[in-house]
Amino acid sequence: MPKIIIDSIPIDVPQGTNVLEAARSIGITIPHFCWHPALGKAGACRACAVKMLDGPIRGIQMSCMLPAQDGMVVSTTDDEAVAMRRAVIEWLMINHPHDCPVCDEGGECQLQDFTIAGGHGIRRFDGLKRTHVNQYLGDCIEHEMNRCIQCYRCVRFYQEYAGGTDFGVMGRSGMVYFGRQQDGPLESPFSGNLAEICPTGVFTVKTARFRARYWDYDMAPSICPGCSLGCNTVPMARYRELLKVTARRNDAVNGWFICDRGRFSNTPVNAANRPRQPQIDGEAVSMEAALNALRERLTDFTARHGSSALAIVGSPRMSQEAAIMAARLRDVTGAGYLCYSYDPETAQATAEAVALLNKDNAASQENVRQADLIALLACDPLNEAPMMALAIRQAWRNGAKVYHVAEKPVCNALHQLYETVYVSSIGEIPFKEAHAPVLVCGTNRKGLDLVRPVMNEGIKTAFIMDGPNSFGTSLLARELGAVSFGEALTSGKIKGIIALEADLPSDLPPELSVLAAADWLRTPLIELAGIVLPVTSWVEMDGIFINNEGRAQSFKQVMKSGLPIKGLTPEQHPPRIHRHDPPGGDMPPSWKMVSALVQLLGGNQDDDTSFRDQWREFETPDAAHNRIMSYERNPKQ
Ligand code: FES
Repeated sequence: MPKIIIDSIPIDVPQGTNVLEAARSIGITIPHFCWHPALGKAGACRACAVKMLDGPIRGIQMSCMLPAQDGMVVSTTDDEAVAMRRAVIEWLMINHPHDCPVCDEGGECQLQDFTIAGGHGIRRFDGLKRTHVNQYLGDCIEHEMNRCIQCYRCVRFYQEYAGGTDFGVMGRSGMVYFGRQQDGPLESPFSGNLAEICPTGVFTVKTARFRARYWDYDMAPSICPGCSLGCNTVPMARYRELLKVTARRNDAVNGWFICDRGRFSNTPVNAANRPRQPQIDGEAVSMEAALNALRERLTDFTARHGSSALAIVGSPRMSQEAAIMAARLRDVTGAGYLCYSYDPETAQATAEAVALLNKDNAASQENVRQADLIALLACDPLNEAPMMALAIRQAWRNGAKVYHVAEKPVCNALHQLYETVYVSSIGEIPFKEAHAPVLVCGTNRKGLDLVRPVMNEGIKTAFIMDGPNSFGTSLLARELGAVSFGEALTSGKIKGIIALEADLPSDLPPELSVLAAADWLRTPLIELAGIVLPVTSWVEMDGIFINNEGRAQSFKQVMKSGLPIKGLTPEQHPPRIHRHDPPGGDMPPSWKMVSALVQLLGGNQDDDTSFRDQWREFETPDAAHNRIMSYERNPKQ
């Protein structure tokens, strides 16, 4: 551990730490543009100058390029270092447009911050600025090349970190251009990260363009519901419209990035045709009236078919709280079936995967990134959980071998991310030669048959599951005796269902009635349901998802629910009356709605405090606090 002194503060830092990181670790921020914790150093921007006062190296140095060594005495405030940084930023600003007032990055721009911090305030250059022609890069990312400061972060992320080949850097005399060979949508499924990694406003998110400044946004720590990996995010909203989703750093899970599937997931939340008004047979009513009607219909249903002909159906996209409440509804109605999934094979495979995992053998994305051998079994990470493919790529870049048990290549796009050795049997994979092997396995019969013998040898395993709370609902299914809906249907006894954020096909058997459907998405069941109960989406409520490794992570309410005004046709516009609550916002989280229904049916209603108390330990949305779920935990206790 090298011992160094920075601005008179002595510190020990791990071997390999550079001076810039060492300073950051004690709260001293040295301006920097090209260095990024996930990308490392490039020495391109020259903004991170410090003065080495004593030790093995002296004079002005770039702090990002200098590994800390014993005896170094560093000054970040030396006049010469400050003058150098100020001059560098002034040079960078020569060609940067002074367009902060109209720039979409304003307020969340690293160049803006470090220009101020670096002491450059008065423009002395009065020549012509260098200008570029922008490109169309697709519907998600806006290109504004004039703002570029040539830090190379974008191309290093896109090509090196994420394996993209359609975007790069081109140069001619004094011009350096970051873009594609020709206009066209960016092909990488991680392209949205350009908007975050760029320290200025070359790449911005089109969905939020000119809609808000950073300080205008409603935002909160959240979890991506796009797949089972539970990547940490910060969704940003304004005026009840989800405008963009950004990555939230969690070193154990997604690191610094997220995939485009999670990032550009605004549309369903903002959809004008989202169910927002409770309905009875197509007639708009209050939530109270809808729940009362459901109680009456349940009484009628029970009299005709018996309560055991009822199924309460949820899905792996419901929060853990809603899944628990579904079970209470099953208990109070006497329903014959509780279901958290549709497909019997997937439900069985998920249950087996959850039973196989424990705190020691569950692999996080970080375990995958640090692996020296990765075996892919019956899965297609890029399509099923893109961030898993990105994690595999990082391991491969560090020298890990990637094996895939398959007769022939599975997906061509994968070759851009990592080289794969295809083997026909798992016995051909040299696990014994590896120090940190990881299995990445699909949650299906084939994957489980392959993985079982190797997992017994203690190899860490990541299962790719099918929903953000597959693990949590599978845990509950085991404890509460839930079965898949497909399995329940084969009994031939079900005559009616109450669907809670359920994903069932529209071609249900004709004898089966959908008594009620609660959802925030306009699913086929909403169209079929006698009673529609709109509930909040994940950005409009607090909740918990348990990810594929069994990590319970809480997400917080980002915005108030309500009809976004933008995009409405005149017919869809709500009545122009003064009101306290936003129109279309009268909807509870799914678990609260079910809790009210349970009380109406004679059960105990859980208020906010008592119900959530049992999950309190998982509530802090801090990376350091999310927990690997105790598999023995009984959520009812
Ligand atoms: Fe050190 Fe760019 S951050 S040269």
